[in-house]
Order: sequence, then C-alpha cells, then structure tokens
Amino acid sequence: MKLFDVYPLYDINIVRGRGCTVWDDNGQEYLDLYGGHAVISIGHCHPVYVEALKNQLDRLGFYSNSVVNTLQQQLASRLGKVCGYEDYQLFLINSGAEANENALKLASFHTGRTRILSAQKAFHGRTSLAVEATDNPKIIAPVNANGHVTYLPLNDITPWERELAKNDVAAVILECIQGVGGIRLATPEFAQELQTACRRHGTVLICDEIQCGYGRSGRFFAHQWLGIRPDLITVAKGIANGFPMGAVLISPDFVPSYGLLGTTFGGNHLACAAALAVLDVMEKDNLVENACKVGNRLLEKLDSLKATQPHITDVRGRGLMIGIELDIPHKEVRSRLIHDEHCFTGCASTNILRLLPPLCLTEEQADTFIEKLKRSL
Ligand SMILES: Cc1ncc(COP(=O)(O)O)c(C=O)c1O
Repeated sequence: MKLFDVYPLYDINIVRGRGCTVWDDNGQEYLDLYGGHAVISIGHCHPVYVEALKNQLDRLGFYSNSVVNTLQQQLASRLGKVCGYEDYQLFLINSGAEANENALKLASFHTGRTRILSAQKAFHGRTSLAVEATDNPKIIAPVNANGHVTYLPLNDITPWERELAKNDVAAVILECIQGVGGIRLATPEFAQELQTACRRHGTVLICDEIQCGYGRSGRFFAHQWLGIRPDLITVAKGIANGFPMGAVLISPDFVPSYGLLGTTFGGNHLACAAALAVLDVMEKDNLVENACKVGNRLLEKLDSLKATQPHITDVRGRGLMIGIELDIPHKEVRSRLIHDEHCFTGCASTNILRLLPPLCLTEEQADTFIEKLKRSL
C-alpha cells in the first residue's frame, strides 16, 4: 500500500528532538522555528513530559469515558486556574477540528439557530462544520457546502453588526491571530465591539485558540490581549505537546445533559497525563513569559532587519507567533533556510514566513535565527 499523497514533503526524516532542536537520520541538526506546526509547546522530548507519559503507560494507557477519570478532573481544575477560566467547563476531544466542530454544535444547540459568521481567510479545520467555517473553497467538499457560513472582513465591524442584527446567527467564530490566514491580528476595538454585538443579539462568541492559544501569544490566550471573554474557547496543538488532544472551554451558561456530546478517545489517560505534564513545565519554566520576552526580541530584530532588507515588506505577530511578509515567494527562502541553514520555519499564502517555535526558544536561538534569515534572504 502507498501513502495517500496529500502533503508536499521535504525529503528529510526527522528522528530525534530536544528543546528547539531536531535531528535527521543522518545526524544533521536543525533549529526548529516551526514547532511541528505550532504543536510543540514545551519543547521536544522534555524530560518531565517523557517521564509522565512513560509512568502513565506503565499504569494504564486507556479506559473509556464510562468511568471516572481523575486525570480529567485534575486537568480541568489546573487548566481553569492557569488560564483564568475557573468557572468554565471542559470537554476533551482529540484534535482542533473536533474542538471547533463541538463548539459550533454547542452554539447551535444553545441558540436553536443554524447560521455562523466567520472571518475572511479564517482556518478552523477540515471536518464538516469546521471546514465550512474555513474560508478556502478548495478544501470544502460539495457535501460540506451547506450555506451555514458567511465570511466577513476582519477588523471591519459594520458588516458583522449588520448580520448579527438579523437575530438568526448561532455563532461567531474568530481566531484572534489568524494563522493559516497569514498572521493577521484582530484589534481590541473590533473584538470588543464584536463581543458586545454578539451579546446584544444572543449569538455565541467562539475564540479558536488552537494555534494562537496555550501561551503562544505571550499570554495564555491571544484574546486576553483584546479585553474580551468568549463563551466558548477551543484549544488543541500545544495542549499536549504532540499527543493528539483538543478541548472546548465552555461558559457556565451552557448546561450539559447526558449524551449531548461524546467521544471514544477524547480525554484518555495518556492524553491527560501529557496535558498535565505540559502545564507543569509551562508553570515551572515560565514559558508564557518566555514567549512574550523572546517574541518581543524577535519582533524588534525583524523590524530592524526590515529597514535594511528590501525583501521584507511587513512583520506582524505577538509572542512566538510571527509572520514575515516578503516581496518574493517564500518557497525558495524556506528551502535555503532548511537545506543551507538547517532551520525549519512555517509559511502562509505564497509569500509569508510563519514562525511558530516551541515556547522555550532562547534569546540566543532567536538571534541565531535572525542571522540564518539574513543569509537566506
Ligand atoms: C486556528 C486553527 N483551527 C483549527 C485547526 C485544526 O486543527 P487540527 O488540524 O488539529 O484538526 C488548526 C490547524 O492548523 C488551526 O490552525
């Protein structure tokens, strides 16, 4: 059997990782400014994380959601405290798309409505409602094109208010920093006006924090820079540092009932052990503060580089989620970064480099990246 060929691959076999460094099967070392697509939050193979997973596997890898799982309870309580949402409820699943799928379903159950508003260039995943809320017709299959979603411009409140005033919108779903869309930041004014309009018209506000959340922006959630408090928050990627996991944080206004949502694998023992270890390391190593500090340094240095390097046309971001817009395609620059400089970066559109490193990136590693980028450009 062959693999279903849907990914354009670099011909590099990564076999080992530590912190912000990975190695291929020839022993070549790479600086990882990509974090396996924003997934590696606490760094590759952190010893606390490895130990926690090994210990849990020795005891019990999986049992079903039909029995008490105290690890889930511990996670809910710890996460609530760390992120400032102690009164919210936690539902655990296995991926980002699933988190958004469940959040959108909850909004529809709660309001009895079927319309959704999403931002232009948004990416929310590839399952049925999540993909419909994604502004990319190429990945919406005919069976998913059900007309539930209206896409509106980020940071232009008027059309959102006009649609919300029809009183038929179940949910607004928003990435406060768009990832796939090219590191575009919602402004505080827009986010606050949107929240006010949602409340006025009985619409559920969902913040998709799957890429920009879990410390990446230099605060626990990116929306916490904007002065809003969404009804539902979706997370995945960094939550378990590579162990597949997603979650929905649910405001106390939502009343659960048996069978309303459900999953076989979601919240399993191994995933919870991984997520608890992530919180341990994030707290002990002050990784949210580190993301803010090192991110600011990177942003400053990139801004200075922009003044002298004509290929850089814009630098955007917060914390360790940074976009470098170029006047040339990113393809060749990324290729030079990987093959000549041995450095992984992400990308967006055709001309944006996207930095999503582990949150433990050091200032020295940030400076090394700047040198590598200069040479590649
Ligand atoms: C903002 C955002 N939402 C949702 C998703 C989907 O997550 P997953 O690939 O885990 O389903 C992603 C993945 O890149 C994302 O960046």
